Amino acid sequence: MNIDLIAGARPNFVKIAAIINAIRDSTQSFSFRLIHTGQHYDQNMSGNFFTDLNIPMPDFNLEAGSGSQAEQTASIMIGYEKLLNSFKPDICIVVGDVTSSMACAITAKKQNVKLAHVEAGIRSGDLSMPEEINRILIDSISDYFFTTSRKATQNLIQNGKKESHIFFVGNTMIDTLLRFKSKFRKPDIWKELEFKDRQYIILTLHRPNNVDEISRLLETLQTIAEHSRGLPIIFPAHPRTAKIIGSRKSKIENLHITSPLGYLEFNFLVNHSKVVITDSGGITEETTVLDIPCITLRDSTERPETVDIGTNELIGVIPEKIPFYLNKLFDGKWKKGKIPELWDGKAGMRIVEILSRL
Ligand code: UD1
Repeated sequence: MNIDLIAGARPNFVKIAAIINAIRDSTQSFSFRLIHTGQHYDQNMSGNFFTDLNIPMPDFNLEAGSGSQAEQTASIMIGYEKLLNSFKPDICIVVGDVTSSMACAITAKKQNVKLAHVEAGIRSGDLSMPEEINRILIDSISDYFFTTSRKATQNLIQNGKKESHIFFVGNTMIDTLLRFKSKFRKPDIWKELEFKDRQYIILTLHRPNNVDEISRLLETLQTIAEHSRGLPIIFPAHPRTAKIIGSRKSKIENLHITSPLGYLEFNFLVNHSKVVITDSGGITEETTVLDIPCITLRDSTERPETVDIGTNELIGVIPEKIPFYLNKLFDGKWKKGKIPELWDGKAGMRIVEILSRL
């Protein structure tokens, strides 16, 4: 079976690593082309992930780079169409909800290539986020659906998808987390800032509604710092966030803004932290499995199991809500989470088994 595996942005690399490892472990013969769209291109947003997660060099790089949603989509579609014109695989696999996944899904389907979506069926209901539009578009044209939860499977059935084409396999992001947990690495900053176990806070923010308005962003940072009981806050800033903060470097003493960290370093920090405050989706899954309290600064989530079963609290984007949750944490009243069904490190293996049957 010839597979095109698409990856373009940071969270994709973590997910495809699980599929590639499962292909390597499989006795079946698969041949795949790894296509990097180039949506993320910085060493610390892309290259380091390939090294750390033992992902082979991409066979092709479409070099889409930065741009508006439409510019990125167009450039990826043009690049991938050219590849498909010279060779058509049996199936194209896209993961998650980023622009790269949506652009390649549409391109593959228009060339009559079978399409599989990994992490299909999840929905936030918030159409103001490009990721939600991407999820809906990809699922509307996919042939096969690999889901991370029974709820996602239900969403797809409700949308009229054939049950026989939907496979609840678990979570590829968690496969990678569990596979690499023993390799998590203490980052240099641990020593520099004299971190101690469970004695610091991690913050990540990159969604437009949290970071695009500088006054709101600064208010969020100030509120977290004021209620952190003096613990250091480490903020590995996404390039988009770093650009917005720019020269208005924070004057908050216990806030340490750094460049994005590598996968092994970041998850080392997560695994030893007091709490993670974030607007990412994937991080809420990782903290749930690592049993670390997580506060999500968003109004909706496409991953409700991290709240219903896991360690995550969805508190909205208004900074005023932060103190209540930080106090709850420091008072030792955080809920105890459990690990969602099938988030057991074997999703990639299940996907590969199903592909070989197909
Ligand atoms: C994308 C995903 C988002 C995911 C995030 C993880 C979409 C719609 N969004 O958002 O779901 O959570 O990745 O990181 O696909 N930039 C760099 N270097 C890079 C990459 C980006 O400097 O290597 C800067 C560029 O100025 C770029 C901006 O960051 O314009 C935003 O990047 P983009 O790929 O458009 O979206 P993300 O915000 O990263």
